[in-house]
Amino acid sequence: MLKAKVCETLSTSLFKAENAKKPSMPNASTQAPNPASESVPAYRVEQLRKIYGEGEAAVQALRGVSIEIPKGETVVFLGPSGSGKSTLLNIMGGLDRATSGSVEFLGRELTGQSDGDLTLYRRQHVGFVFQFYNLMPGLTALENVELVTEITSEPMPAADALTLVGLGNRMDHFPAQLSGGEQQRVAIARAIAKRPTVMFCDEPTGALDRATGLTVLEALAEVNREFGTTLLIVTHNAGVAGLADRVVRFIDGAIDSVATNATKTPISDIEW
Ligand SMILES: Nc1ncnc2c1ncn2[C@@H]1O[C@H](COP(=O)(O)OP(=O)(O)OP(=O)(O)O)[C@@H](O)[C@H]1O
Ligand SMILES: [Mg+2]
Repeated sequence: MLKAKVCETLSTSLFKAENAKKPSMPNASTQAPNPASESVPAYRVEQLRKIYGEGEAAVQALRGVSIEIPKGETVVFLGPSGSGKSTLLNIMGGLDRATSGSVEFLGRELTGQSDGDLTLYRRQHVGFVFQFYNLMPGLTALENVELVTEITSEPMPAADALTLVGLGNRMDHFPAQLSGGEQQRVAIARAIAKRPTVMFCDEPTGALDRATGLTVLEALAEVNREFGTTLLIVTHNAGVAGLADRVVRFIDGAIDSVATNATKTPISDIEW
């Protein structure tokens, strides 16, 4: 029953790319991280530029962004609408390509990789959480997570992922039977079930009130603590910056400032 549903839903665009045929060439994403140095950052981004469109209509979404993100950090990105936050995350996450510049993941160059290699990189290393949860309405919470565990090697059991985000007692509920915060935690469970090295969260609490938003942030913080997953979170909510190791502020396609937090705000004290 589930298999049939999975086959049907896997054909949707959300999972089509993830399910693409494996390329035969070795590539950066399948090689073990470079063991030579523990100090290799998760990401090293240099002079990244992204121009959408051409001529008069061209938009400079990124104007030469450089940043290093150490492994295991929680980084929060703030900035006005249109300042380039999602563009940066989409390129780092292998969903889009830069116009120029470079992105290294664990010391290996991502820019210039083939579509197939980027697909493998995403499948093996990256979890995505978006503002709208992209759950399959006809599948239960457990089945939504199993969509990913069925196509991942050595996944976390789907039930364990749901338990980790506090939904052990909601596994058989359909999305429509869950609150917004619970649906977002299913999306987080789906992302963590493949044991990603890094999670990209673009406005993960954007559609939530404070109380439900905090449960989602708790779940993300737990993933970071438990597995050392690097977390990159874009938000319009300046209060969320309190949980970050590092806060990056964007203005007009460029990084305006990078600040490190000496102490993190307890999540229960975060203002909305
Ligand atoms: N596919 C696209 N084609 C053309 N322009 C685009 C495209 N995607 C983004 N842009 C433009 O690039 C700029 C940066 O967009 P981006 O989505 O990265 O901003 P953002 O900081 O994430 O904004 P928001 O906070 O509203 O999500 C904007 O001016 C936007 O209009
Ligand atoms: Mg955005």
